[in-house]
Amino acid sequence: MKTLSIDVRPADSQDALAISETHRLAWQNAYAGLIPHRALTAMIERRGRGWWSKAIRGPATVLVADVAGTIAGYATVGLNRANALPVEGEVYELYMRPEYQGIGLGHMLFGEARRLLKSLKCNGMVVWCLEDSENATRFFRSNGGVDAVEGIEDFDHVRLKKLGFIFK
Ligand SMILES: CC(C)(COP(=O)(O)OP(=O)(O)OC[C@H]1O[C@@H](n2cnc3c(N)ncnc32)[C@H](O)[C@@H]1OP(=O)(O)O)[C@@H](O)C(=O)NCCC(=O)NCCS
Repeated sequence: MKTLSIDVRPADSQDALAISETHRLAWQNAYAGLIPHRALTAMIERRGRGWWSKAIRGPATVLVADVAGTIAGYATVGLNRANALPVEGEVYELYMRPEYQGIGLGHMLFGEARRLLKSLKCNGMVVWCLEDSENATRFFRSNGGVDAVEGIEDFDHVRLKKLGFIFK
């Protein structure tokens, strides 16, 4: 019998290409029809292998969900960027490849991201997502987040509401 290994681990430089592919597929799936096509394409194209290599070496931690050698999703984690919020940590991004969604991997990855912030002595954390991303808002609510703050993002003159979920 074969054992399928699932591992959540910090990314290394060799993961950059696979993360960029995961990013492209997840963003197209999550945002096509929501974010204007031109803005979405530009955001995706900006983040190729080189961008991710740099991100992996940068101040934020990039975690990956590695399923038997395939990068199924990633999370980026670091210090909260919004001074007005009474939390110290932030999960900047959490994205699963579409074919790996809904099977519990996002929960695993998010749990590791939160553990990492706690181990760095961060008190509380925030994660932002678009209000219209229904899967994401449901996911963060069911994982214990409270949508306590909101903001607006402008994508090629289309203004979309974002929600900040706070976790204690
Ligand atoms: C939001 C996201 C990260 C969640 O990850 P995921 O792996 O799909 O989430 P999980 O599988 O852990 O949980 C999702 C749902 O599937 C259910 N689920 C968990 N294990 C399951 C399984 N084995 N089989 C079927 N469903 C399952 C969970 O109960 C959960 O339901 P709930 O939200 O109603 O509680 C992912 O769907 C995603 O990448 N979405 C697009 C990107 C996005 O919007 N990201 C947020 C912006 S930062």
